[in-house]
Amino acid sequence: MHEKSSKQFIPEATHSSLESLHLPFIQKEQPSYETLSTVLQHFEYYFLDRQTKPIWETSNSQEYIEETSFANRRAIDWLTRLIASPLEWIHVESQREEVVERAAKCIAAACGPIIRDWSFPAPPGNNKPISLKIRDSTLLDDDVGFKTWGAAYLLAKRCTSGQAMPLDKIQSTFILEIGTGTGLVGLTCAMIGCLNVLLTDYHLNVLSNVAYNINLNQLQNVVKVEKLDWKDIANGVEPEFQQKFDIIVGADIVYEVAHANWIPKVIKKFMKKGGTFYLMIPLRPTHTLEVELFERCMEEQGFILQSRQDQQGLDDFSGIQNYRYYEFKD
Ligand SMILES: C[S@@+](CC[C@H](N)C(=O)[O-])C[C@H]1O[C@@H](n2cnc3c(N)ncnc32)[C@H](O)[C@@H]1O
Repeated sequence: MHEKSSKQFIPEATHSSLESLHLPFIQKEQPSYETLSTVLQHFEYYFLDRQTKPIWETSNSQEYIEETSFANRRAIDWLTRLIASPLEWIHVESQREEVVERAAKCIAAACGPIIRDWSFPAPPGNNKPISLKIRDSTLLDDDVGFKTWGAAYLLAKRCTSGQAMPLDKIQSTFILEIGTGTGLVGLTCAMIGCLNVLLTDYHLNVLSNVAYNINLNQLQNVVKVEKLDWKDIANGVEPEFQQKFDIIVGADIVYEVAHANWIPKVIKKFMKKGGTFYLMIPLRPTHTLEVELFERCMEEQGFILQSRQDQQGLDDFSGIQNYRYYEFKD
């Protein structure tokens, strides 16, 4: 069935109500170019024009969390179906191409190509709240390190509240972040006063995005970036830097069996005697084996588990999920 008039499907653009926006069935209704364009305008406002998205807080009302997650999932489902369709009823090729390109940008944006403001209450003994800007690049860039994950927010929050590393000696502490992604955790360590932070990842484009984030927060004097591939270290390849660290931090870095084997060796290589490894990972039901193996491999490397706590948190894709926080000592 072909659509008769674009107006019959689309309510007035009310930017606040993405969840109630009528989305025409793509194949069944065969919406016109004009109709698709109007729907895409709503999504462009929602995903591209807004400067920041609300950050994840489980203290937001359950209703808010459910509505937002539902609206995002519904939008991404619909946009995916739009892109998958040949749109053969739109006869002008340039219009078909435009629709697909705009839909792809919205999906990428829904997955995070934005500069977000992150803020945390003032750390104990300090009256200034912490705030940072972090650029999440787009998932069109095709790597998990281009967005900030829920575990990073939870670990950064612990760092600022004094629920992770002690804050009294933070200035003179040397901190290494592995699998830094967009750098939220390591940059937060610099914001709470650490003067020596090294952010590492194996992906060169991820490293250039994190370098951008260092500049965005004017932390060039205290935060440096290096390439570090866990696989190389596990295979005995000598790293670019020889330094050892008092503290190593990591968020959402155990999601493959290989990671479970490699990371304990990386920590062994770079942690000073008496140092601590602070880690936050999501407990994805699909990755229980990796987590169990990681815990065993840490023990085999001789690390002592000082603290292990499960908690809930949010991220862009999964809504509320369980996370596990660890502190390992040498
Ligand atoms: C899920 S992301 C987490 C990023 C960031 N820590 C966060 O929580 O937002 C995993 C990160 O680990 C990095 N990574 C994956 N394999 C790696 C390896 N073999 N060596 C170093 N980094 C790696 C990825 O590039 C990515 O930045």
